[in-house]
Amino acid sequence: MPTTIKKLNNEDVEALIEVARDSWRWAYRDIYSNEFIETWIDEKYSMEKILKEIIRSQQDLDIIFLGSFDESTLTGFIELKMADNEAELLRLYLKPEYTHRGIGKLLLLEAERIMTKRGIVKCRLYVHRQNCIGISFYKKNGFEVKGINGDDFVMEKKYMS
Ligand SMILES: CC(C)(COP(=O)(O)OP(=O)(O)OC[C@H]1O[C@@H](n2cnc3c(N)ncnc32)[C@H](O)[C@@H]1OP(=O)(O)O)[C@@H](O)C(=O)NCCC(=O)NCCS
Repeated sequence: MPTTIKKLNNEDVEALIEVARDSWRWAYRDIYSNEFIETWIDEKYSMEKILKEIIRSQQDLDIIFLGSFDESTLTGFIELKMADNEAELLRLYLKPEYTHRGIGKLLLLEAERIMTKRGIVKCRLYVHRQNCIGISFYKKNGFEVKGINGDDFVMEKKYMS
């Protein structure tokens, strides 16, 4: 079944939190403790917070929040925040069993299509220095390391608009 990419809806909140939890446990298993991961998910992925951001995306405000679906099952998501003509990629997470199948690239491409239509010329992101899969993925998709911020690499990609 092909993957569908679409804007997230209010009904996707609970599934999104579960995807985030699975993805964090997998991606950061050698980087953060279980306790840190559970606290992070509870705080940064509260239903209230995620719902607010999904609504801002539905209203075409400053957030782009897209999901990848296998039939009706949410398999991953991407979130970006825009300000003036720049964007920050805040989150890109897939269920571990759906990684390495091109879905991350599909999510990024659709977000980039929307961003460039809205005049975005630069996208920045922060990725943990030990997240080799993430770093490799972003480099393959045109992002360059521009600096270091604590434990993170700061990566950027420019767009013509
Ligand atoms: C990073 C992520 C979003 C990429 O999406 P994806 O659908 O897995 O990636 P794609 O299939 O589109 O791209 C493949 C490339 O991504 C990287 N990659 C993705 N999964 C990988 C895996 N399991 N092992 C090694 N490299 C992997 C490689 O660079 C790969 O290129 P290759 O095929 O030449 O080896 C996804 O792997 C993920 O959710 N990872 C965990 C969460 C995370 O780290 N997010 C980034 C936080 S900033």
